[in-house]
This record gives sequence, structure tokens and C-alpha cells, in this order.
Amino acid sequence: MKEMELRGLLDSMTLREKLGQLTQLTPEYFGFNESDVVTGTDALHPVSEEDAANVGTVLNICEKEKVMKIQREYLKRNRHGIPLLFMADVIHGFRTIFPIPLAIASSFDPSFAEKAASYAANEATAEGVKVTFSPMVDLTRDPRWGRVMEGNGEDPYLNTLFAKAYVKGYQKDNLSNPSSIASCVKHFAAYGAPLGGREYNGVELSDWTLHESYFPGYKAAIDAKASMVMAAFNTIGEKPATGNKSLLKNTLREKWGFDGVLISDYNAVNELIVHKAARNKKDAAKQVIKATLDIEMMSTCILDEAEELIRTREIDINLINESVYRILKLKSDLGLFENPYIGMENTAPSSDLSLEVAKACPILLKNEDSILPLNRSEKIAIIGPFAKDTHVVGGWSMKEKEGKSLYDGMRKLSDSIKTCIDTPLGSLLEGIKDIPDFSDKELEDNLQGIDTVLVAVGENQNDTGEGASKTSLTLSYNQMKLIKEAKKLGKKVITIVFSGRPMVLSPIVDDSDAILQAWFLGTSSGDALAELIYGISSPRGKCPMSFPVNEGQIPVFYNHCITGRPEDKNNFTRYVSRYLDAPNEPLFPFGFGLTYGNNSIKSFKIEGNILHILVKNKGKHRCTDTIQIYIEEHNEPYARPSRLLKKIRNIELGDGESRSVAITLTKEMFLINEYGNKRFQPGIFRIYAGFDSNAEHSVEIELTNEEFSKLEEV
Ligand code: GLC
Repeated sequence: MKEMELRGLLDSMTLREKLGQLTQLTPEYFGFNESDVVTGTDALHPVSEEDAANVGTVLNICEKEKVMKIQREYLKRNRHGIPLLFMADVIHGFRTIFPIPLAIASSFDPSFAEKAASYAANEATAEGVKVTFSPMVDLTRDPRWGRVMEGNGEDPYLNTLFAKAYVKGYQKDNLSNPSSIASCVKHFAAYGAPLGGREYNGVELSDWTLHESYFPGYKAAIDAKASMVMAAFNTIGEKPATGNKSLLKNTLREKWGFDGVLISDYNAVNELIVHKAARNKKDAAKQVIKATLDIEMMSTCILDEAEELIRTREIDINLINESVYRILKLKSDLGLFENPYIGMENTAPSSDLSLEVAKACPILLKNEDSILPLNRSEKIAIIGPFAKDTHVVGGWSMKEKEGKSLYDGMRKLSDSIKTCIDTPLGSLLEGIKDIPDFSDKELEDNLQGIDTVLVAVGENQNDTGEGASKTSLTLSYNQMKLIKEAKKLGKKVITIVFSGRPMVLSPIVDDSDAILQAWFLGTSSGDALAELIYGISSPRGKCPMSFPVNEGQIPVFYNHCITGRPEDKNNFTRYVSRYLDAPNEPLFPFGFGLTYGNNSIKSFKIEGNILHILVKNKGKHRCTDTIQIYIEEHNEPYARPSRLLKKIRNIELGDGESRSVAITLTKEMFLINEYGNKRFQPGIFRIYAGFDSNAEHSVEIELTNEEFSKLEEV
């Protein structure tokens, strides 16, 4: 519909009808006894039959038949024939489940995110879902927080690359494309930095850090034309984001130019009262309407209180009209007015994309004496709770909770495999803290004649995602005992870690000859891992978050400032920035990940504004690796991180192959984000190239304003 038609429709609506459009409810309000996916408290606020007939959007219905039924009945009752808009958490797949987003970030290849998002959009729109609450781009430096699995890790630059890729994959060329799904970027803002890593806890960040590290992911999604933004549950400083006018109206809309639909998180408007940031529902409604929030998810402060606020002139009706207009425009852009069932006539095409993506995510953290890849003829054992467990899809995986187990994947490629001591790990949420105990003799008897053992360990997928913060990140006692006892028996031990976050692997690193971080890889999990373990493909994953030595180091991340008293490894003195009982460095740093190749940088130089990097694979295995470019700059009067990632380049190298890679310097690489304003300061810059954040090869350049002005923008 054209703007004039939408404005005409808006003018013909009653205030109750308008307030209905500003409300999102779950299927319980539409005659179903539960949502297809439950994502919040079951506190249902009472809604009249008349108001339910005017509600604008539905949360978490994921079945075609239900969407058709609800839409059909709704359109019969809605006076204007305004179609319902179905929204859901299509986070890493819909029916086909892809690796968790943190795993996809490990690929350091945003094209996988774009392809996975497009594939998920095909499946979701074929069943009537036309908005996804994705991508989640909350920067994360604290693996105690369960939702790190949903994000892209600790680096602002990598976060922006993936944010753009997801939005592009979901929304495709145009929102009116029947298989396009509108992208709702979340959670604005900085939900990923809760104090103590404790879910929903307050966030205390300087304005500088917000702009330089936490905002870029959201801004990148908005610049990529994300249709919606979800406000975060948390406070930033003294105010909850949900009612924060400065954050939502001034920054998001006025400074960044976002004119799409802004939605609250689940019951978050009502929770302003619990935060003690609002006296009552009326006060909460007033705050969020003034902050230009458009849709209230799963609470009814606006629905119940806005009429009084308008009558008493505490709220300008134009704020309500603008919100309703944005929602009607989104429905129009999606083509719902012309066809409320758009896309549902399609059958989503299927492919083995989930396997292709899953193979790119695992991180080879250790590979002593190149014990991996294995020979398929070698007789091996798979032990541990994730040997046969199919619950390997991770949190936020819609209704599908299972994928291919490691054992099922491995035995497709080899018949020389046995499993034992493989009882799945229960969930902490059910009070189960460990796998059943076992005797050393039981293990020894079971491993008779076996030289190589895969130990499949980790955390229960239900103990990751929302509401899953932890203070201990080590493997459970008996899982660690499996690794240690297998080593004591003189076996070659390959530890495979299934988790939604970087776990503390220090206690098992010495007893493991190899460690493969498997994450939760979704539908094709077992097949992907088997192909990597047997060398059909080489692992290529890189750490998107630092893996801490212990919980005491957290938050530990590579792009930290060096302080006025940085530690000098060669000169032990007391008064430096250091721990007495642990190193400053993580166990595995950001950007780190081995391959089956043996890649090194043979030369690194700069000619004009082009970096030339000569790379050689001295290994015997084709592989893909990621060249990472970091820049160290000075921008007085600000203290600056030791270095910042500015470019990545994925390259494939055959065994023995050398390749020269050219990377052009761009303006973007030398700008700092000064409270939201990009600034260049001429001076000396040191540029590092390598395969992780400890890159050592470097060149130093001096950039004047004139030289900077000649660089390409991006
Ligand atoms: C949840 C999550 C949010 C999700 C929403 C709807 O509480 O915080 O990420 O999109 O509810 O399910």
C-alpha cells in the first residue's frame, strides 16, 4: 500500500484498534493452549475479546496450519482487514537447524551466516513466520552469560560483519520477496555485558565503551536496513533500556536514522515496574511511548493505560499514530495486505547447507603430533555423554531439539568404532550436575585393544541460552575423570567439547592430545564432526571469544587497554597489572584455531596502500585459514587497546602451496569511534598480520591527513 493509503487507513482506526496494533501476544490469546516455542514467563495479562481482535502481531507460532487458522479467523473479525504479523525466534534455523551463532562466528566467514539466514527464511516464511528476532548482536566478553551462544563474540569488527550478513540473508533483495523475512536486530543495547555474567543483571559501561565496542553491531544491522529493533531487558547505568528515551529516541532514531519498528522484549514494559523505574503500568506506558517504542511484547501497559494518558494529555496522540503507521508500513512492505498468506504457498528447497556450514565452525584448539585426522581403519572408542547424544542443536533451535549424534556420524564413515560410558549429561536446570560415576576398571576393560579414544564432553544444551548463567565453566568432575583416566591408560585422547560458550578447559588440556571445540552444530552435527575427524575436510574455526584459563580472569578479551603498568614477562616486578595466581592471557586467544595444514606467513610488507602477505602451507593437508589484520594506533587523549581487528581474509591452501594475498588499506581501518563520531588522527600505526590476535608479523606506517584522504572508504 502507498503511504497515502496507509495514512487513510490509520485515520479510519479507533484508538482501541490503534492500541491493539501496538500489542504482541502469544497464541494462548488466540485459542491455542501454548506457544510452539515458550520464551518467557507464563504470566498472562488479561485481554478483552474486543482487544484480542485488534492485536497486531503474534509471537512464536511456528506451524503453517496454526498460522492459517489464526489469520483466517482474525481477518473475519478485524474491521479493517489488517493482517496479523507472525514473529518468532528464528535464530539459527527453522526446521533445519544450523550451528549456534557463536559457532557460525567461529568460521570467521560471514557468508555462512548470510546463507544460513536465507535458508532459514525460506523455511520460516513457508510456514507463515514473517519476522525473526535475529540477529542477536550483543557483544560478549563474559562466557558466564548463557546467551553468548546467540551472538558473534567479543570483537566489534567481526560483530559488524556478521550483523550485516544475517540481515542481508533474512531480508534478501526486498521485503516483498515471498521468502524474505524481516530482521529484528537485538537486544538494544549491551545486554551481553551483565554484571557478574548473571542473566538480566545491570550493565555498567562507559559511554566511550558503548560507542566503540557495543553499539557497532546494532548500527551495522540498521545500516543494512534491519526492519526492526528489540529493546533490551537490562538497565544501562541507571535506566532500563526499554523506557530509555535517550537511547531509543535520541540515539537509535534521531542520530542513527532508524525509522523501523521498535519492539520491547517479553513483558519488559511491565518489568519497568519491577525495576522500580516506573510507579505503575500507566507510568511504564508513558515512558515507553515517549521513548518511541512501537510494540509491547507480552504485556498490556500501553493497551490498558494509553487512553487515559491521551485523555489527560500526558501523551500526544501523534506518538501513537506514528507507531501504528510504522507497523502498518512493515506489514505493507512484507506484502501482507495484498496477501496475508504470502510465501506460504512455497515449499522451502532443501540442500546440505547445514552440513557445509557445520564443518566450518569447529575449532581445533590442540593437535599434538598431528594426531588428527584419524585413519578410518583404526579401531577407536567414543566415550562420554555426547558420544551418542542427539541433543546437539543448541539453544533457540525452535522446536527441533535433536541432530545427528557424533557416533552416528562417525559410523557412517568407519565400522571400527565402539562406544562405552556414554550416558548423556542431564541438565543443571533439573539439578543434574554430572554423568554417573564409573570405575577405572570398567573403563580399562572397555578400552582393551583400543589405542585412540574420542572423549565427547561438554554442557547440556538446555544449560545454555537465556536464563542459563553459570559461575563454574569447567567440565563436570566425572567428565574430566574420563579424560584423565583414559590418558592414564596410555591412550591417545581426543577431547571433543559440545558447549554454547567457551568453557574452562585448563584442567584437561594436558591430558588431551587433541581438543576440538564442537559447539552445538545443529542438524548435521555428527556428520560434520566425522568428516573433520577423518580429514575429509580440515577444521578452520577461530575463537570468536577468548577461552579463559579460569573464571577469575573474566572478562578476558584481546582488545583490552594495556594500562599504565603493563606486565613485562621478562622483568618480574610487583607493581604491574597482573594476577599472582594466573596469567593475564587466556588459555586460547581470540582468533586462534589450528588447521590440518601448517600455514605460516613467509613475508609481510606494504607497498603504497596495499599490504602484501605471502603465506605458505608446509603441511600435507588442504585447508582454509583466516588471515587477520590488526592495527595498533594512538589517539590521544584516549587510552587505546593493544590492537584491534580491522580486516579478515579467508584463504584456501593446498599442501605445500604458497599464496600472495593483497589487502588494500581503507579509511575505515584507521578511524576511531569517538562517542559515535568516526575520527581520524594522523600519526604512526603498526599493522599486524597473522592467524590469531597474537599476530607478530608487523609493518609500521605513518599516515598524514593527506595520505588518509586518498584511501578508499571501505
Ligand atoms: C525472550 C528473549 C528475546 C526473544 C523474545 C521473544 O525473552 O530475550 O531474545 O526474542 O523473548 O521470544
